[in-house]
Amino acid sequence: MGVVEDVSRAADRLAEADAVSLISHIDADGITSYSIISQALAREGVPVKPVFVRQLEPMTIPHIPKDDTLKVFTDLGSGQQGLLEEAEINPDDVVILDHHVSQPAPNGTEYFEVNAQSYGEDYHKCSAAGITYLVARRMNPENTDLSKLAVVGNVGDMMARETGRLTGIAHWIAEDAEAHGHLKMVQGLNCYGLSTRALHLSLSNCDDPVIPGISGKPAKAIEFLCRIGVYDTPSAARTFEELSEDEARKLASNVAQQMIANGESVERLFAEQYFFFDEAEKTPLRNASEYATMLNACGRWAKPAIGAAVCAGDRGVHYREAEHMLRHHRSMIRELCEYILETGVERRGPIQTINIGDRYPDTIVGIGAGMALSKLNTNKPILVLCEVADEPDFLKASMRTYEKVLRRGVDLQDALCTAAAEFGGSGGGHNIAAGAYIPKGCEDDFIRRVSELIQAQLDSGQKNS
Ligand code: C5P
Ligand code: C5P
Repeated sequence: MGVVEDVSRAADRLAEADAVSLISHIDADGITSYSIISQALAREGVPVKPVFVRQLEPMTIPHIPKDDTLKVFTDLGSGQQGLLEEAEINPDDVVILDHHVSQPAPNGTEYFEVNAQSYGEDYHKCSAAGITYLVARRMNPENTDLSKLAVVGNVGDMMARETGRLTGIAHWIAEDAEAHGHLKMVQGLNCYGLSTRALHLSLSNCDDPVIPGISGKPAKAIEFLCRIGVYDTPSAARTFEELSEDEARKLASNVAQQMIANGESVERLFAEQYFFFDEAEKTPLRNASEYATMLNACGRWAKPAIGAAVCAGDRGVHYREAEHMLRHHRSMIRELCEYILETGVERRGPIQTINIGDRYPDTIVGIGAGMALSKLNTNKPILVLCEVADEPDFLKASMRTYEKVLRRGVDLQDALCTAAAEFGGSGGGHNIAAGAYIPKGCEDDFIRRVSELIQAQLDSGQKNS
């Protein structure tokens, strides 16, 4: 069926439910997806029971209530239909709203899913929060206030990373949000922390692209900003958001000149930024990417409900806790990234790999892998292994790569799912970012197998080019 029919069918089934169990992922996309659907249902008077899981896997399947509620899966489920079938979950009680690669149930049970990957190019860069927003908007056109959360979910899942802006339906959602006064799109520098960080830190932390003479050098960034008149004195730090339009233009043209003078392309220097000017100034809620990091901080450190409370409008006790979690999250991610870089990765054919043991929770290793990869050989996918909390018999694998590597034929989801299944584990995700759980003890053979599969993908990619 087409997207319009599927979205309508999902909206009708949700609105008609007596009660819903809403099973969602714990990252920014999962929390925003949960918040969009739970708020839309609350407005229809449908009671919702939240169930957040780090992933749908054999250990977390028992968290799905065995009752007659409608089970709505957001930002997960498509890749785990086999597990739903195995747990004998009735397809009549299930709606899946997702964007992960779909893996049908082996014995043919058909679960109803609205999956962004099923509706053509325009939907390929749309996360689960985008899909849930379409469903919520279909339930009631007044749900347009939830568009802001859909933009946070999309940005949190890196849907804007490759092109420097949201595209297709995800961009339409941002336009919808802007048209209803919930967001402002601004062409800005492709840096992080534009609302909360001193500009010299945003600039010096920028590694995509590397800005010659500034990236990694905060003191030089201060000198540069003073020289171009954006800082009055070295101690008069400001955020990007505090600049006037003229100052922002002056900054952009001077950074661009610096790139060009060093023979660098300015292609990735600018990005569309999504600001929420109804939020308090200088807070992480002022733009989509910082908002998403705050939600990740809550969810990935086991407090997704705190993130959901912030999405529902809490700016008091829960918000303060979220701020605290954000500080902790940032410092742990930085530490994890440094650990990977200092310890070093091992080359295994076309991939690079490291086992970080039990030093960091499995819920953040993927993020650390992605960040460390930007400072490693970006032509080789990274595979990070770690222990899983409360599951001594399993290891978690997280893989990340770049779009340029996908263009050579690589598909991490495919390689991880195949290899994990061969060793009695299971995996899922996307071509660019994927994860798996595998039984402990097989890790060496598993890495060898993943490396073989990626090499085979590269070989056939070369043949087809
Ligand atoms: O956990 P991590 O951030 O590395 O996950 C990368 C991607 O793989 C995510 O989209 C996640 O939902 C997916 N994943 C999965 N099944 C797993 C582990 C991760 O679908 N067992
Ligand atoms: O489960 P899920 O899809 O939400 O996981 C998304 C993860 O995949 C995030 O950690 C994000 O960093 C990563 N990702 C990425 N590049 C993309 C899409 C997702 O690194 N283009």
